[in-house]
Amino acid sequence: MAIYDDSPYRKAATKLPFQFASVPRKRRALLFAVILAVTTFLLFKLFTPSQTLLFFLFSPDIAGPYGSSSPSRAAKSHDANNDILQFIDPLIGTTNGGHVFPGATLPYGMAKAVADVAAPAENAAGFVSDDNPITGFSHMHDSGTGGQPSIGNFPLFVHPGCIDDDFSKCDFSVSDRPLNRVPGSVYASPGYFSVNITNGVRAEMTTTHRSVLYRFSFPGTETLQFAKGVAPYSPLVLVDLVDLMNSRSQGSIQVYPETGRIVGDGRYAPSFGSGHYRAYFCADFKGARIRKTGTFVSNNATDGKQVLEGVGSGYQIPTGSAGAWIQFERPAEKDSILARVGVSFISVDKACENAENEIEDWDFERVEKDAREAWRDKLGVVKVDATGTSEELQTTFWSGLYRTLLSPQNYTGENPLWNSTEPYFDSFYCIWDSFRAQHPLITVVDPKAQSAMIRALLDIYRHEGKLPDCRMSFCKGFTQGGSNADVVIADAFVKGLTADIDWKTAYEAVLSDAEIEPHNWGLAGRGNLVSWHERGYIPWNDIDKNGTGPASRSISRGVEYAYNDFCISLLSQGLSKSPSLLGVSPTSKDVDLYRPNISTPWTSLTSDITKYHHRGANWRNYWNPSAKDLFRDRANSFPQVEDTPAEGQNASIPGFILQSPYVGFLQPRTLSGDFRYHPTRTCSPIQNQHSCYYDTSLDVYEGSPWLYSFFAPQSMSTLIQLMGGPQTFVERLEYYHTSGIAYMGNEQSFLTVFQFHYAGRPGLSSKWLRNYIPRMFNASVNGIPGNDDCAMGAFTTWGMGLGMFPVAGQDVYLIVPPFFKEVKVRAGVDLKSATPVPATDKRAQWAVIRTVNFDPAMQGDGGSPVYIQAAKLNGKKYTKNWITHEFFEKGGVLELVVGSEESKTWGTRKQDLPPSYYEDEKFWEEWERMDEENMAKWKEEDEARGNGEEGVWRR
Ligand SMILES: *[C@@H]1O[C@H](CO)[C@@H](O)[C@H](O)[C@H]1NC(C)=O
Ligand SMILES: *[C@@H]1O[C@H](CO)[C@@H](O)[C@H](O)[C@H]1NC(C)=O
Ligand SMILES: *[C@@H]1O[C@H](CO)[C@@H](O)[C@H](O)[C@H]1NC(C)=O
Ligand SMILES: *[C@@H]1O[C@H](CO)[C@@H](O)[C@H](O)[C@H]1NC(C)=O
Repeated sequence: MAIYDDSPYRKAATKLPFQFASVPRKRRALLFAVILAVTTFLLFKLFTPSQTLLFFLFSPDIAGPYGSSSPSRAAKSHDANNDILQFIDPLIGTTNGGHVFPGATLPYGMAKAVADVAAPAENAAGFVSDDNPITGFSHMHDSGTGGQPSIGNFPLFVHPGCIDDDFSKCDFSVSDRPLNRVPGSVYASPGYFSVNITNGVRAEMTTTHRSVLYRFSFPGTETLQFAKGVAPYSPLVLVDLVDLMNSRSQGSIQVYPETGRIVGDGRYAPSFGSGHYRAYFCADFKGARIRKTGTFVSNNATDGKQVLEGVGSGYQIPTGSAGAWIQFERPAEKDSILARVGVSFISVDKACENAENEIEDWDFERVEKDAREAWRDKLGVVKVDATGTSEELQTTFWSGLYRTLLSPQNYTGENPLWNSTEPYFDSFYCIWDSFRAQHPLITVVDPKAQSAMIRALLDIYRHEGKLPDCRMSFCKGFTQGGSNADVVIADAFVKGLTADIDWKTAYEAVLSDAEIEPHNWGLAGRGNLVSWHERGYIPWNDIDKNGTGPASRSISRGVEYAYNDFCISLLSQGLSKSPSLLGVSPTSKDVDLYRPNISTPWTSLTSDITKYHHRGANWRNYWNPSAKDLFRDRANSFPQVEDTPAEGQNASIPGFILQSPYVGFLQPRTLSGDFRYHPTRTCSPIQNQHSCYYDTSLDVYEGSPWLYSFFAPQSMSTLIQLMGGPQTFVERLEYYHTSGIAYMGNEQSFLTVFQFHYAGRPGLSSKWLRNYIPRMFNASVNGIPGNDDCAMGAFTTWGMGLGMFPVAGQDVYLIVPPFFKEVKVRAGVDLKSATPVPATDKRAQWAVIRTVNFDPAMQGDGGSPVYIQAAKLNGKKYTKNWITHEFFEKGGVLELVVGSEESKTWGTRKQDLPPSYYEDEKFWEEWERMDEENMAKWKEEDEARGNGEEGVWRR
């Protein structure tokens, strides 16, 4: 970007920060003369060595409060007792791959400020609770993501002074400037983050929606003694154009010596997607007079140049550190300097405007108070009676709910790609992770936001042609499996979240996923659709000429496509009952004629119901009833109590192949219809776990065939039958949880904790929930077993607090005993009315989950087990082990009587089980007949192609 006289940089500069803007030009000259005089005087004074504070730049011995399983460092004293915010520890999950953003932000806030840490592979969200040094303080982050670090552009860094008062002797580049934190100095709470670094600077930060206010405090002594020499007190603040991933391909920056304003922009890459995005910032400072300004490239600083252009695009200037700096006099009072940074994705002007509008007053305490108030409001929809529940469990619960609301981020008004009156949310990161627990939770605790997010998804569909599966920083993210936005949309529909959403477009969008294969389905939509439609499975060796994408993952994509299609059938069914949502008059003739505005074959709601219901059963095409669970006993250290050796194998010799008693798994199929053997445990923690990530060539993604073989939430009764009946199913599911195959650090595993419900053993879901919480999900810095994805906290919120788990896409919540005596959730939010009854209003309705016979001894690690014995819903006996959304919509009281023995009567009978939508025997008979008929045909076709039977396992 070139900088001309009429460039946004100039315009931004003319809008001076108010403390300067009010000073007329002539007087400003006078002011600078005074400043000069004071500077000279101070410079003279600074060299009197009497008041020297010693700071040594070598690493202090940091004995680890970090990285261990000790509780994290958030103090709990910020507010009066009884404030739920005291139970929120943003530092949970900031080691051990949690990648949680612990800094200052608002719910769904765009500004997310924190200290960035030089910790490769762990700093996806900037900060890490470890011993690595701090590289700067940046204003935007994503929370809980895997892979490359995300955003983190334009970090500030602060030196209290430079050696020999020579600015060029300060460290500028991101490779030279990092400094350790002072042990024990990290404090995080909603809306606020602070840390002391070893050069004596204390950094505090708080945010509004698109701006950050930093307060940098200094020791106040006249000079500072560092290992390299003496630095007189004269703070230097720099802004660097780097981002966390070092992905910049362009950038410019300018500092205005008179006002101290620094503005800039850059072009960067998204962390798990394709393309580029542009970001802009505008920084102003307050609290000290300006001495000098300039720019730097790498570690070379100059005061002779106030503008850098084209940084990162040319061969002369590297892509790393480059930026601008200001050196200040010692602060006039309070030994601190405020830095106000506005960010934008539109322009520098917009970034300045955001800062000026949101933090006009420069009042740190006011901004922090507003942020805390915003969190209190959001979280106030849930109330708990925590009598008897430990502080640690309360902290786990509230912090999990808090993390659920960090993202997707509300970028409404900041979308550079198209103008629209619809909301815009970003960092759907990724829907593959979030559709299962996070979005269903937002539907309950913040339905307005959930409907705004769906509207944003639909607007993305309108402008880019497909719903995203993953999206960040205005770029398309990589698809991981199915088109799971279909599930998010169906979930909202079946739960009655229908107001404000354009269902005509919604229906069109999901049909587009199901019917139209995009050229690059690695970025949205689905692939191999010809086979999917004609065969009902994705052949392992498919020849698909319609699109490109990660053509592996045939099993995992297949079961997800099937579930997506099933969810579409639910939507077709629902819409056929409320055709006015499609703008169709409710006569059956019109419903039959309804056809979305996409180029698919003729369709009608009535025929869609059947079509997608059938496709929803396609998971079964992967079921190989004779597939064996074979594995190598490499170290002979893995106890194989119930395992038997494979034919002709001797189990007592290490390294031989063993076989568990469980037969029948989802397996890949070839074009001829035959099965291929895929090791059943591969991609689980006990066998090549990391072989199924983004570039995998295997048939499963981030999980083993063992795991995927449980994924048929639309048809669990069929699956249980295929697995040998309820008893074998239960044994098999328990084996999955005890054998090391289950990996709780990924969202796919959530549902497997609760699937005992489908076999009439809801008590075992409670048992396994308590096996994982708090052992793996707790209040320590490593208290999240994998990338948080803003979804791990939804697992704890559901299980611990609401006492249930959603089967996303269906109007089904599986009931488990909560970890609290009583939990209330704000209900009856009327989405049709513009002003819902506030939570404090007496008329407000609550959904109350009450534990009868609550015994604190039954909660927590090693506690005695807890099982539901009986239940009442609104005073009436309730034996179903599941409940519908009506409870949250209208409010009510669910009483759960608990005890220490698993009940044989509650939730165990056939009529108590959650729905399975494919109970029709004839359906499956017809299915098997067709499969056999097709197999004969495919085999013939395959032989005609000259393919033998090599490498193929016959059924
Ligand atoms: C951090 O710095 C502040 C202000 O300089 C000081 O009051 C506080 O004690 C420091 N905290 C630690 C843990 O060193
Ligand atoms: C920094 O300055 C040194 C000495 O003048 C020079 O050799 C080096 O190339 C400069 N580096 C950059 C990145 O400009
Ligand atoms: C949106 O509207 C504004 C004002 O009319 C215009 O300047 C801008 O270019 C538009 N943006 C897009 C992406 O169309
Ligand atoms: C999103 O941001 C816009 C603009 O700031 C605001 O009007 C809207 O209420 C926000 N939506 C939600 C759900 O927070």
